Amino acid sequence: MKVRAYLIAAAILALGGGQPVTLAAEASPFEQGRVLFQQGAVPPCGLCHALKAAGTEGAIGPALDELKPDPDRVARALRNGIGQMPSYQGSLSESQIQAIAAYVAKASAGR
Ligand code: HEC
Repeated sequence: MKVRAYLIAAAILALGGGQPVTLAAEASPFEQGRVLFQQGAVPPCGLCHALKAAGTEGAIGPALDELKPDPDRVARALRNGIGQMPSYQGSLSESQIQAIAAYVAKASAGR
């Protein structure tokens, strides 16, 4: 049933409808991280960061494919903010921060 619900969620996401953050609760942490990176976080990470796996090309912050941050580094930036980057502590839960951190570390290192 979980797999089926996820496929339906993925189809809805692919069509650009629905409420991605809620639907993504059915998905793996990696998938949740991807959806949060692409559209769940406000402002979206891709506005400022390039990440090939996510298809984003923002150039205000460092290109994450080059930085290859580990999960702790991503989570620290999200909790505290850094330079021009806002803190997400008030808008994302700790588990959402962890999911994005794991996603960015994995996606940027190509592992
Ligand atoms: C408004 C633009 C903006 C947004 C939105 C943004 N960032 Fe950033 N980010 C930056 C800038 C600028 C820096 C560099 C800050 C510095 O080093 O002074 C940065 C730095 C980082 C770093 C490196 C931190 C370090 O220790 O050097 C990571 C990782 C990161 N951002 C991830 C994310 C993720 C994930 C999101 C979405 C949840 C996000 N950023 C959203 C602008 C942004």
